[in-house]
Parts: sequence; structure tokens; C-alpha cells
Amino acid sequence: MPQKSTAVSCSNIAFIKYWGNRDAARRIPLNNSISMNLDHATTTTTVAFEDARDDDHIVIGGALANAAQRARVVAHLDRVRALAQIESRARVQSQNNFPMGAGIASSASAFAALSLAATRAAGLELPERELSILARQGSGSACRSIPGGFVEWLAGTESANSYAVSIAPPTFWELRDVIAIVSTAEKKIGSTDGHRAASSSHFLAERVNALSARLARVRRALFAHDLAALGAAIEEDAIELHLIAMTSAPPIFYWSPEMVRVIEAARAWRADGLGVYFTLDAGPNVHLICESKDADQVAARAREISDVRQVIVNAPGGAARLGEEHLF
Ligand code: PMV
Repeated sequence: MPQKSTAVSCSNIAFIKYWGNRDAARRIPLNNSISMNLDHATTTTTVAFEDARDDDHIVIGGALANAAQRARVVAHLDRVRALAQIESRARVQSQNNFPMGAGIASSASAFAALSLAATRAAGLELPERELSILARQGSGSACRSIPGGFVEWLAGTESANSYAVSIAPPTFWELRDVIAIVSTAEKKIGSTDGHRAASSSHFLAERVNALSARLARVRRALFAHDLAALGAAIEEDAIELHLIAMTSAPPIFYWSPEMVRVIEAARAWRADGLGVYFTLDAGPNVHLICESKDADQVAARAREISDVRQVIVNAPGGAARLGEEHLF
């Protein structure tokens, strides 16, 4: 069996968010979600299973994994060992191409890359659906980083039918996600806890009821290349994610003054005729969605906002893939 394998995988930005689980342990979500892979936010991971090793050795971004990171990666390696029926411990090294601590969600690209690299290193060749199911168990949104381009996660009802599929290839629409980074601080409440808290918001049931119509609007807008229709739907959904978080018990404030200032700026540019819409993650950074023809303009204006520390422009990214160059 191949002992060492490397995978590269994109992070993704959700147009319709995953927020709340039907089954928290297996990460089976309450609703379908739709996302775009981000070609400039990738994780590269090398995994080798080594018979002589007596413990997993995990390095992330050049440093030994801390206890929480380690527990999550080892649990994922255990899933792979169970699938491959092997006992060997692994050496894992992982590196993001975007600055660590930039507040860009890295668990999606990290668990997608880990799933592909570890299964190959263990001698398995899983079909895309199985790989997506595996990645989902490490981090829900990671299942959407396995297929390429524009992706829908089919919520399903159990582990075997909760996975993501590509609904359009990366070349389908020259959209851009211009990420305006306003804070590099680690968020205080991770998304795993956020998903758990969501059910305490009395707005959650209403959100879930409204989602099938919004999902349909996003699919329609995407297939029609209709940015105004897409933008209206994704802004609603982003605000709703934060509404649920802020009305959870206890409330979670990912919402921040800097974020609101960038949102207000984007709305003003739009009133000026620039085709730009925002979406948000469980963090303070603002994702400015526009077409490629406007991306330079959006990035230049974002850089002028004093709250914005850095701007990263992303085109739609491809599927998780094997890499040629191992990290060790
Ligand atoms: O995959 P998780 O558990 O980190 O959850 C991701 C949650 C959001 O990024 C806020 C939304 C999404 O669908 O990506």
C-alpha cells in the first residue's frame, strides 16, 4: 500500500449556511447548504502511516498540534484506520497557503485534505461520495470541499446519505469572493459549539422552514448567472446566521462593528452601481461576492477601508486533489 500521500483542498464560502445539526455527533445538518470553493485558500496535507511509530505525530502550520486540534485529527485518523482496517500510527503535516489566524475558516479545507491524503496513504481509493461523507465527520463544511466548483451538501437523514455534490464546475461562472479581513483573532466560540447552541434560538425553526425556498432561489440565480438575485438571497442568509447566533442562549456575537462598517461600505458601492454583495462566516471577516470584471475595483475599495487589514481574492476552486510534492 502507498505509505505516504499528499492532498490539496480548497476552503469554501457558503451562500446558504450550515448552522445547526440534526445529529451533532455525526454532523448531520438540519438543512442543505450551497457553497463555492475558494481557489486562493487551500490546505496541503501529507500523511504517512508508519508501522514503527507508537503514536500519531501531527504538525499544523509548522507547530505541533495543540490538544484540541490533536484530538480532532486523531479521531479522524481513527475513522480512516477503521475503514482501512489498519492499526499503524501516522505522521501528519499540514500547511495553509493563506495566513494562519487570518480568520478564514480552515477546518473545511483541512479536513477535506486530511480525508483524501489519509485514505490514500492507507491504501484506500474512496469514491467522491464516500470521501465527502468521511470529511463531513471531521468538520461539516469539509464535505463541501471534496467536490469542485459550486457545491450543494445534501443534508440527508443519516451518515450514509449526508454528502456534497458539485452542482456546477468552477468555470461555470466567473464569480469572485473578495475576502476583507478585519480581524486575525481566533474566534472565542468555535462552530461546533455554535451549531449546538443554535437549537436554543427560537428563530431556528423559522429559518429552517424558510430555507427550501431560499435554496431554490440560490440554485436558480446560480444557473442563470443572475448576481442581483444571488446577492439578495445570500445577504439574507448571512444575516440570519448571525441572528441565530445572537439569539442563542447564551448569545454568540460573531457580529462586530468592523464587520458592519465593511457591510455598509459595500452597500454604498452597490448604490453607486458596483455589482457587489456580502456574505459572512462565523467570524468578523466579510466576503464580498462580485463578478471577475469588478473584482479589482472591489478589492481596491476594500483596501481603502481602515478596518481592513488584508484582502484575498478568490475564484471558484476545484475539487480536492492529490499533490505531487510531499511536505516531508
Ligand atoms: O464546518 P463547521 O462546523 O466549521 O461549520 C461551518 C459553519 C459556517 O461556516 C458558519 C457556515 C458554512 O456553511 O460554512
